[in-house]
Amino acid sequence: MPPDLPRPKYTALDDSLYDYLVGHRSPDDAVVDELREETARLGGSAVMQIAPDQATLLRILVSAIGARWAVEVGTFTGLSALAIARGLRPDGRLFCFDVSEEWTAIGRRHWERAGIADRIELRLGPAAPALRALPEEPWLDFAFIDADKKAYPVYWDEIVRRLRPGGLVAVDNVLWEGEVVQADKRGEDVEAIRGFNDKVLADARVESVMLAVADGLTLARKRA
Ligand SMILES: C[S@@+](CC[C@H](N)C(=O)[O-])C[C@H]1O[C@@H](n2cnc3c(N)ncnc32)[C@H](O)[C@@H]1O
Repeated sequence: MPPDLPRPKYTALDDSLYDYLVGHRSPDDAVVDELREETARLGGSAVMQIAPDQATLLRILVSAIGARWAVEVGTFTGLSALAIARGLRPDGRLFCFDVSEEWTAIGRRHWERAGIADRIELRLGPAAPALRALPEEPWLDFAFIDADKKAYPVYWDEIVRRLRPGGLVAVDNVLWEGEVVQADKRGEDVEAIRGFNDKVLADARVESVMLAVADGLTLARKRA
């Protein structure tokens, strides 16, 4: 920030303010509640699931741009996919990429229950080669990146080149629990996220903003 200007206003969250915020969005339905409960029973890995407010935001973004074609990298037990698919046009399609058959099987059951399974095509295996195999022209309306952090730059490039002008890409975990600004933090993942965030900033193909949602969500729009 320029030093002679006052700091812009922002509100730091604590648990009670976060609960208030989550409680003041359109309520989830039984499918989402049960998916969250089943994921929580997995134990430690459940932390990978996106936050409730993130799921609502994804659905709103997808439906706001009238998206028909979407891609997700990192599906886990399927909450973000459920949100994106629900925001798509009825004739829309979401291509999901994940390496885990076990976790995505949980998602498949809940997508069926939600009546949107026919909008989702799950492709199991490493995402990078699968993305490279997608059509080259700019056909994508929306993408969500939430998988292995070191490969974010690869996912980004494969997605942005396929994004139509005005299309959106959302990227999770860009604040890495605040470690992006802690110089003594030198882990592989935080270094990867720092490098990725700088790459997005330098990418003239998009305009972007980092949102303080959950663990940080970058939202980028492809320029015309
Ligand atoms: C943070 S979780 C995704 C959470 C999910 N978006 C949700 O809403 O619950 C990351 C996922 O990325 C997957 N993953 C990790 N490396 C991958 C790779 N190379 N290709 C595809 N998926 C990968 C993992 O199996 C895991 O399910």
